Amino acid sequence: MLKLNSDEIHLWFAFSDEIQNVELLSAYEKLMTPEERAQQQRFRFAKHRHQYLVTRALVRTTLSRYTNIEPGDWRFSKNDYGKPEIMASEGMPPLRFNLSHTEKLIICGVVLKQDIGVDVEYLARKGASVDIADRFFSPQEVKDLYAVAEKERRARFFDYWTLKESYIKARGMGLSLPLELFTFHISEHEPLRISFDAKLRDDPSRWQFWLLQPTPHHKVAISVCREANKHYQLVMKKVVPLREEQVFVGGQAGGRIRNNV
Ligand SMILES: CC(C)(COP(=O)(O)OP(=O)(O)OC[C@H]1O[C@@H](n2cnc3c(N)ncnc32)[C@H](O)[C@@H]1OP(=O)(O)O)[C@@H](O)C(=O)NCCC(=O)NCCS
Repeated sequence: MLKLNSDEIHLWFAFSDEIQNVELLSAYEKLMTPEERAQQQRFRFAKHRHQYLVTRALVRTTLSRYTNIEPGDWRFSKNDYGKPEIMASEGMPPLRFNLSHTEKLIICGVVLKQDIGVDVEYLARKGASVDIADRFFSPQEVKDLYAVAEKERRARFFDYWTLKESYIKARGMGLSLPLELFTFHISEHEPLRISFDAKLRDDPSRWQFWLLQPTPHHKVAISVCREANKHYQLVMKKVVPLREEQVFVGGQAGGRIRNNV
């Protein structure tokens, strides 16, 4: 059984396009509940049905690494904004998780007790470009974005996007949490930082963030609400659910991993 220390975040990467073995996919199907199977069938395109299937297998097999619950036995509930949580039963460790999926990559972050949000974005994603920044970012973020050299601006756009998504996902309130009321400060020479409008009643010291580029095509951000000034370590693994796993050096495509501590 895998140990998750109280000051660790485990981040699991599954590269969905690499997972095509028919027997393996059929084993994943058996892990889903009837509701999940019905949900999977509602996707019109095969690639979305595949992504949904691998996501279910990833979350179920990942959680089972930490306890003796079988992958098919996990049950989940959702809060009012759709954030899934484990339906806890007696004796279960206080695991929390969050998922994100995009073209070719699915990630699952796991932590004990604390609120966590993860986001992965595909850099060639359609419909996301610098000119929509003022619809989603705070005025300061928009200003800082346009101060970045033009050739680096699109990559920086996704830095803000993934960080902001990871924070709202950690809070679990979806887009009901106004995106312009919090600001990420990203600079080459200083650690990441967040600031909040007083209306949001949040405190930057409660949060730890990471920003990384695991492949040339993806950006990832993680937000975790800290327990009593704990300093969390990020542990990354690449995995094929029900098959192999290996240590993953997540920042490999985009230089160093940024964080705020
Ligand atoms: C609901 C939301 C989490 C969807 O995010 P997304 O980027 O489309 O999708 P992701 O792949 O990152 O995350 C989806 C997963 O997050 C989880 N999730 C769903 N609702 C959630 C919520 N309220 N909070 C946290 N996690 C949530 C689910 O596990 C979901 O996957 P599943 O349906 O396969 O179980 C939400 O943040 C949203 O609607 N965002 C819209 C995008 C946007 O405008 N962003 C502004 C960027 S600055």
